[in-house]
Amino acid sequence: MSGDLLQELDALEREAERELATAQTRAETEAWYSRYLGRKGALTQALRNLGSLPPDLRPQVGRRANRLKQRLEQALKERQEAIRQAEIQDRLAAEKVDVTLPGRRPSVGRLHPTTRTLREIYRIFGQMGFQIYDAPEVETDEYNFTLLNIPEGHPARDMWDTFYTTTPGVILRTHTSPGQIHAMREYAPEPIRVILPGKCYRHEDVTARAEMMFYQVEGLAVGRKITFADLKGVLVNFVDQMFGQGRRLRFRKSYFPFTEPSVEVDVDCVLCAGQGCRVCKYTGWLEILGAGMVNPVVLRNGGYDPARFSGFAFGMGPERIAMLRYGVDDIRYFYTNDVRFLEQIG
Ligand code: DAH
Repeated sequence: MSGDLLQELDALEREAERELATAQTRAETEAWYSRYLGRKGALTQALRNLGSLPPDLRPQVGRRANRLKQRLEQALKERQEAIRQAEIQDRLAAEKVDVTLPGRRPSVGRLHPTTRTLREIYRIFGQMGFQIYDAPEVETDEYNFTLLNIPEGHPARDMWDTFYTTTPGVILRTHTSPGQIHAMREYAPEPIRVILPGKCYRHEDVTARAEMMFYQVEGLAVGRKITFADLKGVLVNFVDQMFGQGRRLRFRKSYFPFTEPSVEVDVDCVLCAGQGCRVCKYTGWLEILGAGMVNPVVLRNGGYDPARFSGFAFGMGPERIAMLRYGVDDIRYFYTNDVRFLEQIG
């Protein structure tokens, strides 16, 4: 009987040690503990039978069982410590920082193509002595039309359908030209040379060529002996710098109520050099702006005496200029804010 129990304890020891050696996690060692040393464990179970042994054998078997218990507890501690060390090693390996890796580059934004084009325009006209003059986007009907020689009922008003506010006579400007009146009224009778950049609004169907909101840059020079030749010189210089030297310019007679005479100005197509292509619609020319000599009525409305003063004015669309520079064929790309587009040009 006692021999049986001792053998049983030997077998239990071997089995327990073999099993413990395969435990890989703390949870497995805990399961092992309850299997062998817990209240319902194999060792506890085996010792239940101790009482049924003859009394003289009990101490021997009892000592053996106690030693076994101590050994297994010690083995458990060692196994758990080994697992803990292995876990630490795993974490160290997994969380290792490779200090030789290159850093992560922060993604750098860039300026919008319209902004870049505007800044280029400011630079070029700045060199020629033009100051930037800020005029309001919310305008009165009077400034947007009447003072620019477009009285109520004038057919030219049809060229510019706009957005009206709930205040009668207050609208969103359809062009930057009303800024001419603001600048003249501020500076008259001094000579002026200004550009007036900013947003304009038109109530029209949005198409590849037209947006509801777009930029314009207006130019205005008023002085004592300003002629059409000055306008040409300024525009030739501008086009040279904006589109590269040697471009050809074409002045076509046109009509604007606020200039007389009026022209529309074309540059030979930057893409096909005048040969004819899709962008220039096979004409070889690209229209870039409207211009003319300031109408005497407008000069007077601005506070200048047209007998002593003359001036020229022009108005251009920077998005259109950006489209030509970057070969973009749809203005809607500019303000849908698709970064894939914005990243491509520039
Ligand atoms: N305001 C005109 C438009 O929006 C553009 C323009 C044409 C401006 C001739 C001018 C000019 O100053 O002289 O269509």
